[in-house]
Amino acid sequence: MLLSHLWPVCLTLIVARVTAVQVNPLPAPRNISWASSGSKNLAGFVTLRTAQDTPDFLLANAWDRAWKTIVALQWVPAATEAPFPSFQPFPTATAAASSGVARRAKRALPSLQFVDVSVSDVTADLQHGVDESYTLEVTDDSNTVIIQAPTVWGALHAFTTLQQLIISDGQGGLILEQPVKIQDAPLYPYRGIMIDTGRNFISVPKIYEQLDAMALSKLNVLHWHLDDTQSWPVQIDAYPEMVRDAYSSREVFSHADLRNVVAYARARGIRVIPEIDMPSHSAAGWKQVDPDMVTCVDSWWSNDDWALHTAVEPPPGQMDIIYNGTYTVVRDVYNELSDIFPDHWFHVGADEIQPNCFNFSRYVTEWFAEDPARTYNDLAQYWVDHAVPIFQNYSTSRRLVMWEDIVLSTEHAHDVPKNIVMQNWNNGLEYIDKLTAQGYDVIVSSADFMYLDCGIGGGFVTNDPRYDVMSNPDPSTPNFNYGGAGGSWCAPYKTWQRIYDYDFTQNLTEAQAQHIVGAAAPLWSEQVDDVTVSSHFWPRAAALAELVWSGNRDEQGHKRTTLMTQRILNFREYLVANGVQATALVPKYCLQHPHACDFYRNQSAVQ
Ligand SMILES: *[C@@H]1O[C@H](CO)[C@@H](O)[C@H](O)[C@H]1NC(C)=O
Ligand SMILES: *[C@@H]1O[C@H](CO)[C@@H](O)[C@H](O)[C@H]1NC(C)=O
Ligand SMILES: *[C@@H]1O[C@H](CO)[C@@H](O)[C@H](O)[C@H]1NC(C)=O
Ligand SMILES: *[C@@H]1O[C@H](CO)[C@@H](O)[C@H](O)[C@H]1NC(C)=O
Ligand SMILES: *[C@@H]1O[C@H](CO)[C@@H](O)[C@H](O)[C@H]1NC(C)=O
Ligand SMILES: *[C@@H]1O[C@H](CO)[C@@H](O)[C@H](O)[C@H]1NC(C)=O
Repeated sequence: MLLSHLWPVCLTLIVARVTAVQVNPLPAPRNISWASSGSKNLAGFVTLRTAQDTPDFLLANAWDRAWKTIVALQWVPAATEAPFPSFQPFPTATAAASSGVARRAKRALPSLQFVDVSVSDVTADLQHGVDESYTLEVTDDSNTVIIQAPTVWGALHAFTTLQQLIISDGQGGLILEQPVKIQDAPLYPYRGIMIDTGRNFISVPKIYEQLDAMALSKLNVLHWHLDDTQSWPVQIDAYPEMVRDAYSSREVFSHADLRNVVAYARARGIRVIPEIDMPSHSAAGWKQVDPDMVTCVDSWWSNDDWALHTAVEPPPGQMDIIYNGTYTVVRDVYNELSDIFPDHWFHVGADEIQPNCFNFSRYVTEWFAEDPARTYNDLAQYWVDHAVPIFQNYSTSRRLVMWEDIVLSTEHAHDVPKNIVMQNWNNGLEYIDKLTAQGYDVIVSSADFMYLDCGIGGGFVTNDPRYDVMSNPDPSTPNFNYGGAGGSWCAPYKTWQRIYDYDFTQNLTEAQAQHIVGAAAPLWSEQVDDVTVSSHFWPRAAALAELVWSGNRDEQGHKRTTLMTQRILNFREYLVANGVQATALVPKYCLQHPHACDFYRNQSAVQ
């Protein structure tokens, strides 16, 4: 009591010594305007006031988290967005360090004591397309942050903005640069990352860590590629034997684990979309239920004799599309998981069908023999015709997602329902153009820009002589390692700049552009597990987050990549402070000295 009484006095003394800055939240809001009357102090405790909350107190809990973080971190951003400094020609140069200089309040302003949140519809569910907009305002004469949002999901975004705006005064107090007015809303409704727990297991706490970082950067979809040919890590009550193909009994997600991840994500405004990759990428788990429902599982994957290859990576395995027992098991597993994941969207894979794998199936070979006119496209169509009704049947609000292969690869189906959302990954703009021209809604995940596993360690296959250039200067793969892709099919590593600068709607008509629902950055986990998952996602996924929240251009239409630099460098520090093991992007010197590490002196070099 006494202490809080003393606050205003202390702070008057302190503020003059503080280097307050107009902090630079990520993603940059669509519209943020500041005036210059100076920073405002915070009271010892800032209370949430809201007329309504959800039955599970989403708003109260979210503010509680934000406030605890604000108090615990006492965040001090490094130099923020700054004008290009005047570098001197001689070594007497002054450091180009700190940007914003303290702007002392001209008069005593009331301290902030309240966050008032008004939400128009607290019942709006967290589903695709829900309104995530919000406004936030702090004025000179008020002791209250005013937040307005159509839904709680927008209000949660307001909190993650606000917690990045409140910083330490360096003396144990907290300040907010103001007056500030923000009007914010995402450009795209689907903003995600993809984790892969089939190639390597990723533990629930590490998934929480990704969700923490996603919430801070306003990403709203966790696409969860649950299984693959290598392992089946998911408890299925209908077929408890499936988890015999988990890596160990400890590397299994129980139903409670799955529900906990969904709940943790929802509390942060993030949808969880499960993926069961079918009919390809299927062996583990399924083969325990019915060995006939998968084929070529015990074949040599045969990358060394490509004509015979049954898989693009070991181990092989695909569902038997003709064997009718396949569909019974698929239905049971799909329905059980659908009961656990409340999202209306479900990803059912459909990528990378390998024809040779089916030579190991007597059902498929007999089916081909019955009618020599049948092709692999007919086989793919058979899958669509038999599996999609099962998937669609779950509920009338079910929306399916598939990888683009089912429409665009050599082994595509002839006729895939247009209401299935296609996730793009090949051939950049060309395939985005094709899919949207055909009328599909598209999630952009172009591998050349958004695959976060590219170039992080070459290929993972072993017994590979191409790496031994001393004894095998293989003329068929010149520069395989040095100057080549080094075994990583999608090398090189995608930098945050490459992600941020990707104009994925380029050359689309307005009608085509309307079909883009957003983007997601996958991190395939052949060479990733708990130890490295966060450092591969972050902070690069934050570049995607801003790209799909407020875009990569300024009001004049110029790329704002150079201004994004300080934002993402600061945000990386903020992630680490929040317990996310995000990788370093630069020597810390560059963070502390804006523009000192620019490649071009010309600040319009990136346009
Ligand atoms: C941004 O907000 C300011 C202040 O509210 C307003 O004057 C301006 O028109 C807005 N700009 C855009 C692009 O919405
Ligand atoms: C697999 O079967 C197909 C269809 O009979 C045939 O065209 C193809 O050559 C076979 N693949 C191999 C590697 O034998
Ligand atoms: C599956 O095929 C078998 C014969 O191969 C047949 O007896 C059975 O009725 C079929 N089941 C379904 C559900 O179609
Ligand atoms: C769809 O669900 C209904 C009701 O549960 C069931 O009778 C029907 O067989 C299902 N159809 C498919 C294709 O799974
Ligand atoms: C996009 O359009 C521009 C200008 O017409 C053209 O130069 C470019 O090649 C096109 N890009 C793609 C990927 O089609
Ligand atoms: C800076 O770069 C832009 C884009 O390349 C160019 O148009 C402009 O002329 C350059 N300015 C100077 C001063 O070189």
